[in-house]
Amino acid sequence: MKHFISFSLAVLMCSMVVAQQPNVNYDEHKVKPYTLPQVLKTNGGRQVTTKEIWEKQRRREILKLFEDNVYGQMPHSFDSINFTVSGKNNSAYNGRAKLKEVDIEVFRNSQSVVIHLLLFIPKSKSKPGVFLLINNRGKENTDATRQTKSEFWPVEMVVDSGFAIASFHVSDLAPDNKDSFTNGALRLYPEQASAENGMRAIGAWAWGASRVLDYLETDKDIDAKKVAVVGHSRGGKAALWAAAQDRRFAMCISNCSGNSGAKLSKRNFGETVAIINTAFPHWFSPNYKKYNDDEQALPVDQHMLISLIAPRPVYATNASEDLWADPTGTFLALKHAEEVYELYGIKPGLPMHPPAIDHPVNNSRVAYHNRTGIHNMIIYDWRNFVVFGKRFLK
Ligand code: GCU
Repeated sequence: MKHFISFSLAVLMCSMVVAQQPNVNYDEHKVKPYTLPQVLKTNGGRQVTTKEIWEKQRRREILKLFEDNVYGQMPHSFDSINFTVSGKNNSAYNGRAKLKEVDIEVFRNSQSVVIHLLLFIPKSKSKPGVFLLINNRGKENTDATRQTKSEFWPVEMVVDSGFAIASFHVSDLAPDNKDSFTNGALRLYPEQASAENGMRAIGAWAWGASRVLDYLETDKDIDAKKVAVVGHSRGGKAALWAAAQDRRFAMCISNCSGNSGAKLSKRNFGETVAIINTAFPHWFSPNYKKYNDDEQALPVDQHMLISLIAPRPVYATNASEDLWADPTGTFLALKHAEEVYELYGIKPGLPMHPPAIDHPVNNSRVAYHNRTGIHNMIIYDWRNFVVFGKRFLK
């Protein structure tokens, strides 16, 4: 009954949106046939049968296709990086955690950018794994004093589960605004800002996650080999791109990431490439705009982005009322990525069809849930991330 009510509500809400956006499809029956590019066939048409061919050739090809057509290039070089512990509290959360605040400053071409990192480390565990959140919401969600508590970043629950939890804010890397997004990491890479396949905001946020990992590798209180990069929605798009690019991330969690995140684009269900590029022109490379209203011409789809994370564990989620982010399309993208995990001897764990709402499937390396409710990241989601972390961040 509950599901029925929320489903009816979703249909009602969606029909309201449809009334405003005539091009948005929320009807499964109206999904037109589409063909996904084959993950396991090289650009030259060769079948990929081993993980060696995957890693040496196909993985690189796919990464380049995403750089050239979607997220832009990911610059890997800079002049230097400095870490300054700007705050410390050895008895945070009633003495159960240590808090560190670290300023990570990256220099290139006489420019620099500072990423402010918050890190809570449980005292109950030596060298714990870390959930690193790319925070795309207000900074009140990641209050270091813990006077304001938010389910978006549930420090206490995660610490009590024996994991460290960290966050940085996207505005340190690229303000989320079409007029000012270059005022961050892109100051270090002006050549990116002027390139058609150059890095934009989502790329800058992902780049920032990697610089945080550079710091975590130097912190003896945590295990940098067990870092899960976590993001919600636009932050979830960046989390996938970060984990696809940087194989040091041991796990990726992408919550309600939707279009150009974990959902398939070619299904044209919910948000489309044209809509996202129009509303957020600063998120993706200029080249991505070529695919506005032409998803079928894209040489990639998002199952290929997920496959770049293999064999590392990946968890994507949805909320039942958030059809904009296409829960079914997210499930299908994960499902199609499983064949790359199979190259590593990992058997597909997802069922053939999307599991029922509120029935997480997170006992396999490619994990999924669709929770009752609206577009958000809440304690239900985090509890499941922790379950997944206990299984696979070992
Ligand atoms: C908008 C956008 C989505 C995005 C979301 C968010 O709804 O269309 O693509 O995921 O904002 O970041 O909250």
